[in-house]
Amino acid sequence: METVEVEGGLRIPLSRYTMASTARQFARVALRTTTRRTAFVAAPRQAFRQGGRRYNSSQAGKSGSSPLVWIAGAAVAGGAGYYFYTQGASGAATKEFKPTQKDYQEVYNVIANRLEENDEYDDGSYGPVLLRLAWHASGTYDKETGTGGSNGATMRFSPESGHGANAGLKAARDFLEPVKEIPWITYSDLWILGGVCAVQEMLGPQIPYRPGRVDRDMAACTPDGRLPDATQGSRHLRDIFGRMGFNDQEIVALSGAHALGRTHKDRSGFDGPWTFSPTVLTNDFYRLLLEEKWQWRKWEGPAQYEDKKTKSLMMLPTDMVLVQDKEFRKHTERYAKDNDAFFKDFAAVVVKLFELGVPFPENAERMTFTSPTPKRAAEMKPIRRDGLSVVRR
Ligand code: HEM
Repeated sequence: METVEVEGGLRIPLSRYTMASTARQFARVALRTTTRRTAFVAAPRQAFRQGGRRYNSSQAGKSGSSPLVWIAGAAVAGGAGYYFYTQGASGAATKEFKPTQKDYQEVYNVIANRLEENDEYDDGSYGPVLLRLAWHASGTYDKETGTGGSNGATMRFSPESGHGANAGLKAARDFLEPVKEIPWITYSDLWILGGVCAVQEMLGPQIPYRPGRVDRDMAACTPDGRLPDATQGSRHLRDIFGRMGFNDQEIVALSGAHALGRTHKDRSGFDGPWTFSPTVLTNDFYRLLLEEKWQWRKWEGPAQYEDKKTKSLMMLPTDMVLVQDKEFRKHTERYAKDNDAFFKDFAAVVVKLFELGVPFPENAERMTFTSPTPKRAAEMKPIRRDGLSVVRR
């Protein structure tokens, strides 16, 4: 039987090492990323730190004194496998670790727990900015050339990280960075799993997920201008989303994501949230668009709308197009009336978005995840600035 030497000079069967090291990775990441320290976890955390090694997808693990060398980033085409090799007395042997649904659920759990623990950010959640990261990673896709899309995670690099549309997304990338200590998951798969987790943890529909994305280098960065410009009109929306392969109904369904999060003066230049419940996904974006009276905000910043009644909500010019354009409007009206229809269409179109440009193996099945934090819903905080309560149905 092939064996490997682990820390302390002990030899164990290679197959058991794979399982043990996977479990150890999760334990280490979970311990490192938790912000609620207890005396109980403090000691093992220290031990893990000392024994721990850091990897990223572009850097192979350093062997040091350990006989084990992980080759991070050696994910095979299709990304489903993760290779490592051992250097024992008998020479090098290559072994493939194939993560299962259970492994991805573990990564999901780590992200979900981090979301719950880091509730001081913005309106109480990193969820919106995680979803925006997954969308901007995917929305660069060009169906004609097959370039861009969620395969690659090229926003790690300049110039893409510096594109105006991506301002502020460093917060999301940094949030996920500790989770990347799990070495077998690629950045591209992790960012999309972050988006899936964000939607579900913000009480949205279940988003089926397929892994298999491979990280690419800066040569694969997409040119600036592929993401939508909020100051433009319906023609621009159809051009940009048409290039990705989306129709009118899909554009409107995707835009419902603006029920979540807010615009930031120091990022896009715009200011304020779209809804009173920016950390809970509902069809409120459509309802408010139709039911409230909107006026141009008088201010120094870029042209945006504010609601007449409270002046605390905002709409972008591209959001307003969804009621101004006749074709877009009929979908807006349907989603405003029917949250279930919105959830169903949103899930379908988000799956499509997140898979743009990924050459999945033919039989790659989608997996679904459940939340490890069902109580999160009850803990939602009211929106910060105007003190209005979270609207929940
Ligand atoms: C229709 C074209 C779109 C335009 C012009 C647009 C534009 C913007 C802008 C300007 C911001 C504010 C960024 C900031 O200042 O922090 C924003 C935020 C956001 N967008 Fe979009 N977006 C579009 C479509 C989408 C889509 C398709 C999704 C997801 C499926 C999405 C999800 C989000 C989320 C969740 C935020 C909030 C981020 C946060 O709170 O930090 N957007 N968007």
